[in-house]
Formats: sequence, C-alpha cells, structure tokens
Amino acid sequence: MTKPAILTFETYDDWDSAPMSELFDVHAMPASGNPADLPQETREQIRAFAFKGHNGMNAALMDPFPNLGLIANYGVGYDSIDVAYATSKGIKVTNTPDVLTNDVADLAVGMLIGLSRDIVGASDWVRSGKWGTSGAYPIQRTLSGASIGIVGMGRIGRAIADRLQSFDTKLHYFSRTEKDTPDWQYHNDVVSLASAVDILMIAVSGGPDTVNIISRDVLEALGTDGVIVNSARGTTVDEQALIELLQNGKLRGAALDVFENEPHIDERFLSLDNVLLQPHQSSGTVETRQAMGILQRNNLIAFFAGDALVTPVN
Ligand code: DGY
Repeated sequence: MTKPAILTFETYDDWDSAPMSELFDVHAMPASGNPADLPQETREQIRAFAFKGHNGMNAALMDPFPNLGLIANYGVGYDSIDVAYATSKGIKVTNTPDVLTNDVADLAVGMLIGLSRDIVGASDWVRSGKWGTSGAYPIQRTLSGASIGIVGMGRIGRAIADRLQSFDTKLHYFSRTEKDTPDWQYHNDVVSLASAVDILMIAVSGGPDTVNIISRDVLEALGTDGVIVNSARGTTVDEQALIELLQNGKLRGAALDVFENEPHIDERFLSLDNVLLQPHQSSGTVETRQAMGILQRNNLIAFFAGDALVTPVN
C-alpha cells in the first residue's frame, strides 16, 4: 500500500526518523527553505507537515502544497505557526502538550536554584583553582521561604508551583482566570503580581497576546532585589528593559532559557554576571523528546486514518 506523504522540517533523531519512514513517505524541506525547489508532483502528494522549529510557518510555506491538511508541531508552543491562516485554509494544527510539562518545570526550578546560589559561577571558581588561591566563594541568596510569582497558571505554571511549594515559598500568580488554589494569591494584573514578590517565573504561552507581558513597568515593580526566570518565550519579556535594568543593578538577576533572537542572542547578555543562560533546552531530555516524537506521529497517524486528532490546536 502507498504510504502517505509528509514533509519534515529540520532533522530528527533516529528514534523518530526510523518509525517515521516506516509509516510515511518522508520528504525533507530543501536546504534552500524554498518549497518551489521540490518537484510540483511531490508538493501535490504532501498532505501533512511534521513541523519542528521556531522559524515561522506561514502562508508562503503552506500555499505551495495544495493538499496540505495537517501541520503536526513538535513542541507545545505553536506561536511560530500562523494558526489563523492555517484555519482559514482548512489546515489542522496539532502540538505536543503534557509530555514535556515535568521537564520544563524541573528546569525552571533548577535555573532558579542555579541563579540564587550561583551554581555555575561557583563551579567555575573550583575549576579555575580560585578556591585554592582566593578562598571561599562569595555567599549567595536563599531560595526557601521566598515570595514567588508565577505568570501563567496553565499546565507548566502549575507544575512549577507544585514544585516550589516544597520550598516553603509564598506563592502568588497571574492568570486570565482565578484558579481554585486558596493557598496561592491571585493577581489580575502582572504589575500587581510583581509588586508582591521577589521572583517572577514566566510560564505563559508565546504569541501576540503575551508579547512584552513582562514590560518595563513589571520589571521595575519587581524592584532591585527582583529576579526573573523565563522558560516560556523570549517575546514575553521587554528584553531591552531587562538588559538595562540588569546592567544598572535595578534587578538582581535573570535565568533565561529563551530569548527574543534565538540562537543569536543579544550579546549584552554575555557580559552580565547576574544572569544564568540556557540554550532553549527545557524539553531537551531523551525521555521527553521521545515522547514528543511519539505524540507528533500519533497525530499524523490519526489524521491519515481520518480519526480525531490526539492534541488538536484549532
Ligand atoms: C515547546 O515545546 O514549545 C518548547 O519551547 C520547545 O520548543
């Protein structure tokens, strides 16, 4: 039987590419990034995209494929996909929620501890021999008992909150609607949240609704002892304001897994010693990436079988 044709973007590990090739007739997006470089016949055969990456998925990429019916995203965030356009063309979009929640929350808390105790700087102190030559490392800050605000109380925000509870923290949160969590203080705006806490953990989805939700006003409300941890999207933070405040000692620190321009981040971050920088790797474990691949394929399988999609977006 003929296998259904899909188009992949970016590379996959063997644990994904092998089952994908068994199930589907897999074509890769040409290195030029130009769909016109694929033969017309191939473009007509392709009915689904296995999409991966943060570069825009827009009309120019969808239009050359007249029979495209599904964009199966590898990732929970789909802010790089023009979902409104896809919907207008009858193209379904799916994502990979839930399977990565624990890893993303683990790393967010790990980054917070890493920043509070400067684990990376202290490790460099030992490696460089400074412990022997210069003595003890400068003392750092306590995390347990801190007042922490979580921006976004979806799956990931809640998983971060659950973990932070065991640090005896006082938890506050912002979200569109108040949740049934009486122990956690609800705020209906982010400036009010930032004024009430020392640490902000960002866990909202990316996209137009959350651009610069962490504005200069929010960062200033956090104050000179304030810290932010961003494992959501770079677009959620006013990065110019963030850098300025970090440079001028108007914020204590930032732990960032995501940036406005990835992977070519603003170089000013590199010379700051009050930041902990990560290469957008929150979901980057073998276990989670395998689960994401399986969920992406299950959506493709459901689509080609004419079944209900497992994790539809639109
Ligand atoms: C996601 O799933 O959205 C993560 O940011 C990885 O891309």
